[in-house]
Amino acid sequence: MTGLDTLRPRLPSPLQELSDPRFARHGLRLLLKRDDLIHPELIGNKWRKLAPNLTAAAGRTVLTFGGAYSNHLRATAAAGRLLGLSTVGVVRGAELADRPLNPSLARCAADGMRLHFVDRSTYRRKTEPDTLARVLRAADAEDAYVVPEGGSNPLAVRGCRALGEELAGRANVVAIACGTGGTLAGLAAGLASDQRCLGVAVLKGGFLTADTESLQRRAFGARCGDWTIDDRFHFGGYARTTPELEAFAEDFEHRHGLPVERLYVAKLLYGLVTLAEEGAFARGTTLAAVVTGRPFP
Ligand SMILES: Cc1ncc(COP(=O)(O)O)c(C=O)c1O
Repeated sequence: MTGLDTLRPRLPSPLQELSDPRFARHGLRLLLKRDDLIHPELIGNKWRKLAPNLTAAAGRTVLTFGGAYSNHLRATAAAGRLLGLSTVGVVRGAELADRPLNPSLARCAADGMRLHFVDRSTYRRKTEPDTLARVLRAADAEDAYVVPEGGSNPLAVRGCRALGEELAGRANVVAIACGTGGTLAGLAAGLASDQRCLGVAVLKGGFLTADTESLQRRAFGARCGDWTIDDRFHFGGYARTTPELEAFAEDFEHRHGLPVERLYVAKLLYGLVTLAEEGAFARGTTLAAVVTGRPFP
């Protein structure tokens, strides 16, 4: 019993229509699927991915991985505090151990997460059994329940299927920003057969189709749902931005009063506006954009 039910998630998350001439003039409706409102601390896809894993951890220490500004590490730390679970965060970058914690890691630590810093080469090899065993030993967490970077394991992917089910019949095209592809993998599996899903990659490299397919095979046994990935809107890669993207996000916030998370949601919304302008969607299409996060103050 993890007490998740006491956290009162707002599910199904709200679906809101936006009035925006950049879509309306092409005959398109834009809906926002407000997963950022599911829970004040387990925000967006973090709830959907972490909840089944926290249940499976059954009270054991939860150990997971992330970079210095990882949303996933913060959410795991917050879950630990809220549920009384101990958590360990394995952080990329041994050099960070000797520096003051940045605000994101400071929040993790304040929530009780024990931080364990590893060098980048170890971090890259963290899924290899020998390396993982070494990291667990060094972190004094050999019995921990291990959640992968970004939280995307088969349980998490199956948890994200509910997002698709909530959207069934509500939109023709559902769009979502992708890091590991785990949320897309589950979402696409939960949509109805006449809906399609569009993933906007925020990392550079073009590996996401293969990764998402592999996550679906592990979670569901096969590729499923109608989905594609657009690799044009990463703005140089993870956490990279440009003055144009920043101006776009600020303008979106002013127009709609929506706080726009910059690493993922800004790139998704920018991609959708561009695709609408390019005529990528037939008139009469209803689009739903999933708001998977909220800016970290
Ligand atoms: C706000 C936000 N949106 C989207 C994603 C992408 O999720 P995934 O790694 O499942 O593709 C993440 C990463 O976890 C995220 O923090």
